Amino acid sequence: MTKKIFMTRRIPVRAEEMLRDAGYDVTVSAKEGVLTRDELKSTLAQAPYDGVASLLTDAIDADMIAAMPASVKIIANYAVGYNNIDVPAAHERGIVVTNTPDVLTSTVAEHTVALILTLASRIAEGDRFVREGKFVGWDPLLLLGTDIKGKTLGLVGAGRIGSEVAEVLHRGFGMKVVYSDVKNNEALEASCNAKFCATHEEVLAEADVVSVHVPLLPTTHHLINAERLALMKKSALLVNTSRGPVVDEVALVEALKSGLIRGVALDVFEFEPKITADLLDLPNVVVNPHIASATEETRTKMAEMVATNIIETLEGRNAPNKIV
Ligand code: DGY
Repeated sequence: MTKKIFMTRRIPVRAEEMLRDAGYDVTVSAKEGVLTRDELKSTLAQAPYDGVASLLTDAIDADMIAAMPASVKIIANYAVGYNNIDVPAAHERGIVVTNTPDVLTSTVAEHTVALILTLASRIAEGDRFVREGKFVGWDPLLLLGTDIKGKTLGLVGAGRIGSEVAEVLHRGFGMKVVYSDVKNNEALEASCNAKFCATHEEVLAEADVVSVHVPLLPTTHHLINAERLALMKKSALLVNTSRGPVVDEVALVEALKSGLIRGVALDVFEFEPKITADLLDLPNVVVNPHIASATEETRTKMAEMVATNIIETLEGRNAPNKIV
């Protein structure tokens, strides 16, 4: 019997090509945007799909998993993060869950460095200034930024992406590196002379630039909260390219308004795609629409991984990116 795959949204065509070449019947959601919960539930009930290619915008919780037909053997998430999926609930039903690690590491790291430089050199503010017709000539005191060379980078979470950010900033800008994580990263310590801090608080107090790279878990929800923001240097910059709810945005707005930190760049938001009131009115905030992994090369590689994970699972082999 031909195996049926449902893709909750169009992703780069490479995934479809690979699946069709493998003889699979692929249905891509005809909707332009994200399927609502009810739409996704009823769509899945319409055909005995063998696999589902999901996105981080699909809430695949226990209820959704229970509603899936018994035929579903794999949920292949088109993202490295999989906080949108209740993995234990999937495993309980014998469904394999996969993600797309590694291929996006350097792309997200590059984007993170770009955001840090944008903040430090006030590039977004300068761009707005010129577009608004305010540029009337060179001014010795106009939009003064801050150097990052030789300063301290603080990583909250030092996995693959955080480590690559550190490599670039340590080698390229001579930044010192301090980090906190659930365990030591010996490779990072060796390559960047990075200092392990036993607590996030230590990192926040010591760093000139804080970059957040933790997965969203119950233990990391609002990890950056009012108390921790208060520990940061007044001159510090904060960047988040991980998951929005790791930062308490109401506390962040307060910290920015009261000058507790110098600026923030966010690629992700607590209530994505909604933005917390006031965030957009503050000049020292740089915002992006969750595009840190969005290069043609990387998004295509992610699509290939989704197809490979589905094919390997449905052919009875081990998916390379199986979440255990
Ligand atoms: C991910 O993969 O988790 C990113 O947030 C989107 O590419």
